[in-house]
Formats: sequence, structure tokens, C-alpha cells
Amino acid sequence: MPLDALVFDAYGTLFDVHAVTDRCEKFWPGQGARLSQLWRAKQLEYSWQRTLMGRYLPFSAITRDALAYACEALGLPLGDKQTKALMEEYLNLAPYADVPQALPELRRNGRKLAILTNGSPDMIEPLVANRGLQPHFDAVLSVDGLKAFKPAPRVYQLAVDTLRVPAANVGFVSSNCWDALGAKCFGFNVYWINRGGAPLDRLGFAPDGVLASLGDLPERIAN
Ligand code: LAC
Repeated sequence: MPLDALVFDAYGTLFDVHAVTDRCEKFWPGQGARLSQLWRAKQLEYSWQRTLMGRYLPFSAITRDALAYACEALGLPLGDKQTKALMEEYLNLAPYADVPQALPELRRNGRKLAILTNGSPDMIEPLVANRGLQPHFDAVLSVDGLKAFKPAPRVYQLAVDTLRVPAANVGFVSSNCWDALGAKCFGFNVYWINRGGAPLDRLGFAPDGVLASLGDLPERIAN
């Protein structure tokens, strides 16, 4: 099946969420890496829990709540100054080194490229613009209008409906294994960019491809 569209996850796939570590480290020396890990873990937990509870909040609010939780759990004093600075970091997260070169190689022969993210428009739009990635994408899709987060199946349907490409002709690209498998469960062709060599989640699905770098994807889908 030709891949007429490629749909990318944002946080952790295109943009490094742990780019916040340096700023965390400056505020709380010796705690930056722990805080960044716990902040991200809680951000994801809250997104799943709120979807299950039917209590959606935009990802920006969830990210702020997760930061407050993580700081309290680690005993780190968090004031307005730190909250503001760390939330701003999220609007400027560095893309992974393999991203800028791979995107133009992937957008060939009329293939559409899009982002499908849990990020709310107030987070993802400034980030994509600040990092100059806008020209590579035909669409930047946020789950926000659906009031549910990935991996809820109806969220992946948004990409099919917006791009007007059937699921069988969509390649979905994520470094988050739970997201990759959610997309596989939905019916996409899935490429898991497993930069860290993580084990496969036991969710009853396997990606179509497991790649160590986004830079390996153009060759992988060339034929
Ligand atoms: C995203 C996060 C969950 O949807 O990685 O971009």
C-alpha cells in the first residue's frame, strides 16, 4: 500500500521533552533529570486518566498540573517564576537532531505530512513556529477539539478525516511506544522510532517497523 500521508507524534518524537532538563537543573541543582522524567510521566498519566474520567483539560493545563505535582513529590519549591519559565521552555523544545533532514526527504511525490498531537494549539503552534518546522507540514492537528487524548481511537480518526487519506495509506510515526501501538490498533501503518532501545510495550500489537532514528525512515518506506 502506498503511504500517501505520514502523521507524526510531536512530544518525544519530533521534539525532545527532556530539553527542559537544563532549566530544571538551574532552578534545582542535582534534580533536573529526575524532575524532567517525573514531570513527563505525570503529564501522560493525567492525559490518560482525564480521558477515562471524561474530564478533559487542554494539554497545557495538564502539563502545568504535572509540573506542580512533580515538584511537590520531589520536595522542590515551585513559584510563579519557575512555573512561567518552565512552561515557556515547552514552547521552544529542541527538535531531535535527525528531524530537520528527514522531513524534506519524507515529503516526496505528493505525500502529505502532518502532526497529530495531544498538545493543545496554545502549545504546539508556537513550538512548531519557533523551531521553523511549519513549512514541512500540511497540517498540525491537535486533539483539543475532540476533548480526548491519544491513544483513544477517535483521535487517530481525526488524521484520516482531515487529510482525506484512508488509514491503510497512512504511515504513523511515534517514539512513544504506547502511541505507536494505539495507532496500530486503530489501523495505521506504524513506525516506532525507538531512539533509546526501549522494550516493546505488551499491548498485543507490534509496529510495522522499529527504527533507531527518524533518519532511517526515508529508505525504509522508499519502495
Ligand atoms: C504528543 C505527546 C503525547 O501527542 O507525545 O505529542
